[in-house]
Amino acid sequence: MIERRTLLGATLAAPALSACATIGSDNRASMPALPHDPHSYAKPDEARVLNVSLNVRADFERKVITGTCTLTIAARDDAREIVLDSKGLNIGSISGNGRELPFTIGANNEELGAPLTIQLNGAREITIAYESAHDADALQWLTPAQTASGKPFLFSQGQAILTRTWAPTQDSPGIRQTYDVRVVVPEGLKAVMSAEMLTPDGEPAEGGRAFRFRMRNPVPIYLMSIGVGDLVFGSVGPRTGVWTEPSVLERALYECADMEAMVRTAEALYGPYRWGRYDVLILPPSFPYGGMENPRLTFLTPTFLAGDRSLVSLIAHELAHSWSGNLVTNAVWADSWLNEGFTSYFENRISEALYGEERAKMAQVLDWAGIQTAIRTLPPEYQRLHLRTDVESQGDTSPIVYDKGALFLRTIERTMGRQRFDAYLRSYFDRYAFQPMTTEKFLADFRERAVRGDAALEQQLQLDAWAYEPGLPSNAQEPHAATFDQVDAAVAAFNANGALNAEQWQGWGTFARQRFLQTLPRELSRTQLDALESTFSLNETGNYEVAFNWLELAVNNRYEPSVPTIERFLTSQGRGKFIRPIYRALWAEADWGRPIARRVYAQARPGYHNLVSTAVDRIVNGA
Ligand code: BES
Ligand code: ZN
Repeated sequence: MIERRTLLGATLAAPALSACATIGSDNRASMPALPHDPHSYAKPDEARVLNVSLNVRADFERKVITGTCTLTIAARDDAREIVLDSKGLNIGSISGNGRELPFTIGANNEELGAPLTIQLNGAREITIAYESAHDADALQWLTPAQTASGKPFLFSQGQAILTRTWAPTQDSPGIRQTYDVRVVVPEGLKAVMSAEMLTPDGEPAEGGRAFRFRMRNPVPIYLMSIGVGDLVFGSVGPRTGVWTEPSVLERALYECADMEAMVRTAEALYGPYRWGRYDVLILPPSFPYGGMENPRLTFLTPTFLAGDRSLVSLIAHELAHSWSGNLVTNAVWADSWLNEGFTSYFENRISEALYGEERAKMAQVLDWAGIQTAIRTLPPEYQRLHLRTDVESQGDTSPIVYDKGALFLRTIERTMGRQRFDAYLRSYFDRYAFQPMTTEKFLADFRERAVRGDAALEQQLQLDAWAYEPGLPSNAQEPHAATFDQVDAAVAAFNANGALNAEQWQGWGTFARQRFLQTLPRELSRTQLDALESTFSLNETGNYEVAFNWLELAVNNRYEPSVPTIERFLTSQGRGKFIRPIYRALWAEADWGRPIARRVYAQARPGYHNLVSTAVDRIVNGA
C-alpha cells in the first residue's frame, strides 16, 4: 500500500509557474517574483512578510499559544493591504503606526484556513494580538502520562501548511522570513527552537520562565518550530548534540554518535553548513514523522533508537535538508521532490561515504522496490515528479517524490559522471542559497550549467520525461546489492521447502531483514507464519522498521499470535508512516481486523497527533 497524503477536494487555482509581473515597489530588492502558491492566501507581489517577531506564552492549562505577533513588511508603494494565512487563530486587535488597523477574516477552508487581510494604512510594521485554537494542527500538547519524564510536553510541526495554526503570517515556502521569539513556559520546563538560543537557562518571567530565540537566516516559515518539555542536552561534537527528556539521553547519545561526522561528510560533498549548530531533539513517541528538518534542530521520532545505530540514515536525511530544502526550497508544494528527492539522494551519498557502498546500495534497492509498487498502484498523474496542482498534495510523502526523485539524480550522476554532477550540485546550492526553486528553474539551470548544449547528453538524460511523465524513463537503472543476493536466496528456499536459518538472520542487519520480510509472498500459511515467528522471534523485535514489515504480513494473514504485538506497536508510538498502513490493513481484514482496530484505536487515539488521528478517523469511518 502506498502512503500519500493529498489535498483532494479543495479547488485550487491554476499555477502560474514563472509568470509574475515585477511592479514598482519601495522594497523591490526584498520582493523577487514568486510562482503562485495554491496553498497560501498571501499576495507576495503586493506585500510580504520579512520578519516575524513573536512574544507569546505557551499556556499548558488551556493548550494555546497566546500573545502578539509583530510582522515587518515589504510592500509596493500602492499596496493598501497585506494578506496573511491563518487557521483557527483567534485574532484580537491589530495595530500599526500607533493606530488600530482594520482587518477581515475570509471564509474558512478546511485545509487552507482563512485569509487574514489587514489594511496597512501605510504601516510597514504591524502587531497582531492572537491566540491559537486548542486543537491547532501544528501543536501537540502532551500530558505528563504521555511523556517519558512525567512532565508535560509541547511540540510544533510546521510542514507543510501548519504554521498558520500557531502564528499569523504568510505560510508559503517561497516567502522567506527571519524571526525572533520570546516564549514564556511553565517553571520547570525548557523551550528549544529551530533557531539561535539567546537565553540557554531562560529568564524569570511572570507565570514561568521566558526563553528567547532568533533566526537570522531567512527561512520558509514551515521551518519555524518549538519544543517545550523536561529537556536536557548531551553534547556529541563541537557543533552537534542531542536534546531529549532525561531518561532517553543515554540511549540517544549512543545512537547519535556519528552526527558530527555526518556534518563533516555533508560539507565535503556540497559545501559549508550554513546554520551554525546542528542539534537534534528526540520527541515523545507521538511525533507524527520520522524526522523533520527544522534548521539547527532536527526533530526526531524516538522510534529510530534501535540500539544498534542501524536507523541513523534518518539523521543523514534531515541533515541533508540543511542544503536541499532549507537553503534551496521548493517554492510550491507541487515541487516537493526538489526538497525530498534531492535530500534522499544526498542522504544516500552521506551513508555511502560514512558506512560504505554496500549499505548505500541496500537502501537504493529497498527504495527501488517502493518505486515499483508506487508505479503499479498510483494513478499516472501521481507518478510525475512535478505534480500538477489539481492532484497535488501539501508535501506528498510518496516514494515518487522521495525515491523516484533520488533515482533521477542518481541517473544524472551515472550519465554525466559523479565528479561533474557533484560540482554542479555544489554550485547549485551556493547560487540558490536562501532562495525558492521550481522544477522549471532547476531544469533550465541544469541545462545551462551542466548540459551546455551537448545534444547527445541531453538525449541520454531524458530530463523532461523524469520530471513530467509517469513511470520510469528508459534510462532508469535497477540498483543491485550483493548482500541481498543471499537474502533473496533465503526467501526462495523458504518458499520452496519452508527452510529458515536463525543464524543467518542473526547475522543480518536491519536492511537485510527488511528485504527478507518485504519480498516474502504477501500470502502466507499459518505454518509458515509460525515458522517465521518461532525461528526469528519477530513478535519481540525492538526495531520498529522490522516490526512494521512483520506486522503488515501478520495482519494480511490474520496471524492471531501477533495481535498483542500489533496492539503494543499501535499504542507505543504515533508515527504516521507506521500507524496508517497498519490500521488500513486491519480494516481490510474486515471481520477479523476491524474489531481489533476499533479496540486498539479507542485506547490509542488520544495519544496520536492530530495529523495521524485525522487520517485514522478516515480509515475507521470507512471513508
Ligand atoms: N520533511 C520531511 C517530513 C514531512 C514530509 C513533513 C511531508 C510534512 C510533510 C522529512 O524530512 C522526512 O522526509 N521524514 C521522513 C524520514 C526520511 C528518512 C524519509 C519520515 O518522517 O519518515
Ligand atoms: Zn525529508
